Amino acid sequence: MISNGFNSKCVHSGDIEIDGIGNVVTPIFENSTFEFPESGVSGDYIYSRWGNPTVKSFEDKYADVERTEHAFAYSTGMAAITSSVMPYLKSGDSVLSLNELYGQTFGFFSRILPKYKINVDFISVSDLNKCDFKNKNYKILYIESITNPLLEVPDIIEIAKMCREEGIKLLVDATFATPYNQNPVSLGADMALHSGTKYISGHTDLVIGLSGFNDNYDDLDYYRKTYGGTPDAFQAFLAYRGMKTLGLRMERHNKNGMELAKVLNDSQKIDDVYYPGLKEGKYFNVAEKNLRGYSGMISFNVRGGIENSHKLIKNLSIPKYAVSLGGVESLISIPVEGTHKALTEEERKASGIKDSLVRLSVGIEDLEDLVKDLENALDKI
Ligand SMILES: Cc1ncc(COP(=O)(O)O)c(C=O)c1O
Repeated sequence: MISNGFNSKCVHSGDIEIDGIGNVVTPIFENSTFEFPESGVSGDYIYSRWGNPTVKSFEDKYADVERTEHAFAYSTGMAAITSSVMPYLKSGDSVLSLNELYGQTFGFFSRILPKYKINVDFISVSDLNKCDFKNKNYKILYIESITNPLLEVPDIIEIAKMCREEGIKLLVDATFATPYNQNPVSLGADMALHSGTKYISGHTDLVIGLSGFNDNYDDLDYYRKTYGGTPDAFQAFLAYRGMKTLGLRMERHNKNGMELAKVLNDSQKIDDVYYPGLKEGKYFNVAEKNLRGYSGMISFNVRGGIENSHKLIKNLSIPKYAVSLGGVESLISIPVEGTHKALTEEERKASGIKDSLVRLSVGIEDLEDLVKDLENALDKI
């Protein structure tokens, strides 16, 4: 079958066909263990924490669109991140990361790794894009390719060249970009990571994580099996099913995101709009080079402070106030009340997150409805 296009891969790659059954989609193998075909000789699968056919089908589908040789699925995005970072580190090592990251990831780097005598330094995206730092023998550089929540864009192409010269492994959380808009490993990174909870599964009905990579398979596999954060077959099946429409959904998220960002940018009620696709944005030139589309995530400061942010949200009828993102339905939240609540005031200040910041995950609803709803709520502030 010729299936080189993104949507064809999403629909067909990785699917399991069982001889004599004629199943059109991958079945759900809810098995904890698998019989050895011969005493002492195992088959492809032994035990589901190590590997499961439904999970493998999902991993293969993702690897094909991520354009990596290997992929591992995890029970959550955080399991993917922690299980993929630790194989590269030991006590005494140093790590470089961004001062603006998803709150729990930031907690892993700022609070947990130092307990194991791993030093972590943090840098802003703008300094990183200028390669303005001294290499303290960093083992890894960990970044988000569109940062959460300010949607800043690291220049992966340039950063990856520098990392290769300096012998630093580059790990990229590309949850906000998705493989539809960006393939970090093709741009030179060592690994792509995802909270598959978001766009990849796309329906706000599960949590799951993913990594895509070409090298270091055995070590990553050992940590994956030992930390044990592997997904269940049913969870992987739901994500596999969601992925079949990833391309169609992202096409719509990209379009709706761009149009709503323009509405917000034109409004007198809004102070700053963060969206990588806005031509007047600080990161547009970098975004154009590193991304094929700009996704459905928009952040903005409402003029007049957090009271007005609440007023806006109350007057919106389509987006629901909830954390998380990347589903078919629009969601809206205030980072200091949810995803970034655990950060100290200094940490928020260092990363530029104001109390009035609102993060909108634009869904795939009709654009006309979304625009009307937003304009109506803006009028009422
Ligand atoms: C950018 C990013 N990375 C990782 C995660 C963690 O993923 P999960 O919630 O699936 O563990 C999140 C969660 O919101 C996220 O936004």
